[in-house]
Amino acid sequence: MKTLKTQVAIIGAGPSGLLLGQLLARQGISNIILERVTGDYVLGRIRAGILEQGFVDLVREAGVGDRMDKEGEVHGGFEIAVNGRSIRIDMAKLTGGDTVVCYGQTEITKDLMDARKAAELVTCYEAADVKLNDVTSDKPTVTFEHGGETCQLECDYIAGCDGFHGVSRQTIPAELRTEHETIYPFGWMGLLSETPPVSKELIYSKHERGFALASRRSATRSRNYIQVSLDDTVDDWPDDRFWEEFKRRLPTKAAESLVTGPSIEKSIAPLRSFICEPMQYGNMFLVGDAAHIVPPTGAKGLNLAASDVSTLYKVLLRVYQEGDKKCIEQYSEIALRRVWHGERFSWWMTNMLHNFGDMTSHGMDGLTFGRFMESELNYYLASEAGQRVIAEQYVGLPYEDLTT
Ligand code: APR
Ligand code: PHB
Repeated sequence: MKTLKTQVAIIGAGPSGLLLGQLLARQGISNIILERVTGDYVLGRIRAGILEQGFVDLVREAGVGDRMDKEGEVHGGFEIAVNGRSIRIDMAKLTGGDTVVCYGQTEITKDLMDARKAAELVTCYEAADVKLNDVTSDKPTVTFEHGGETCQLECDYIAGCDGFHGVSRQTIPAELRTEHETIYPFGWMGLLSETPPVSKELIYSKHERGFALASRRSATRSRNYIQVSLDDTVDDWPDDRFWEEFKRRLPTKAAESLVTGPSIEKSIAPLRSFICEPMQYGNMFLVGDAAHIVPPTGAKGLNLAASDVSTLYKVLLRVYQEGDKKCIEQYSEIALRRVWHGERFSWWMTNMLHNFGDMTSHGMDGLTFGRFMESELNYYLASEAGQRVIAEQYVGLPYEDLTT
């Protein structure tokens, strides 16, 4: 058996694992990443693209912000449309200057991969059968198959950055783990196209036919979504049908400026809220999608992953720079506080903006629930105070520091 050694073993080379690895390496904390698939496969996944300021700052701190700063678009607002009537949420004004950056997760992931390669940090792609062992001891190990060999990685700590379907979460014994889950009765179909976006800012559109989101990647590339039935497949939605439906759900001005074109990528994703508590077991920490999933309506998935990374980074810095091993006990509580806020915001936005049809929710028929949510949305949109509640959460709540 081949034996490797590092300080922090990171499972998963998605944005969470790559960002954590880069931050630690810059502080002289060694790490090895084990990834189940190839780098190209990781880059093939199209995900969201709105970065909170906290995320942007962290990427810069990791020394990987150059392209993001050059190509990312700073957005000071977005629109919420209700049955064709549109209201701009002026994030910058409502929050005293906060903004978000529109830059695709794929691009961030690529930048992080390139930086990791340039720094000659070790990533084992196509690592199979990854198993976490002795995580409550001082000497945890990770065993895996790589290039036809059985390998063992010895480490001090394990960061489980292996997404919703990863193995890390399962190492927390079932009796110590609480999983909260809600599955929504619809999905989102996304279409990526080389066409100019309908607007300079995102438009979240509530419509009687279902929700739509007009998003973008650049001045020439659009990423648009529509709410679809969970029974639908991509084959049910040829490009023409998607564009026609998307257009019907947009406010008039945006619909008039819509330019359509062939899809580069099309996919349907179910919507889920999921939280695992706690996020730590012994010397193993869960980070990002491994511990929580949000529906995409609040653009929080990647941003919650980043706040976990930030917290774990602070914990590990204190461990290695000050020898304070006790501080690791703070991780789960601090991370989960922010996760629950992001989860609540994403759930709230999802409830307000989608059409639940006749599905029952909260012990109530779908029609009544829909009317309550419409009233809720109208109430928040009608006042500056209400809009500020939305804006503050959209730009992202502050990151918490460790206690002394
Ligand atoms: N062994 C090794 N790697 C694994 C394993 C395993 N058993 N299981 C999963 N992985 C890898 C996946 O192949 C994937 O590349 O872990 C990685 C997890 O990456 P993501 O799913 O992207 O999760 P994360 O890095 O936490 O990213 C946060 O923000 O917008 C959201 O969901 C979106 O991916 C996004 C997330
Ligand atoms: C995206 O651009 O893919 C995107 C943006 C905002 C969201 C969800 C997805 O809320």
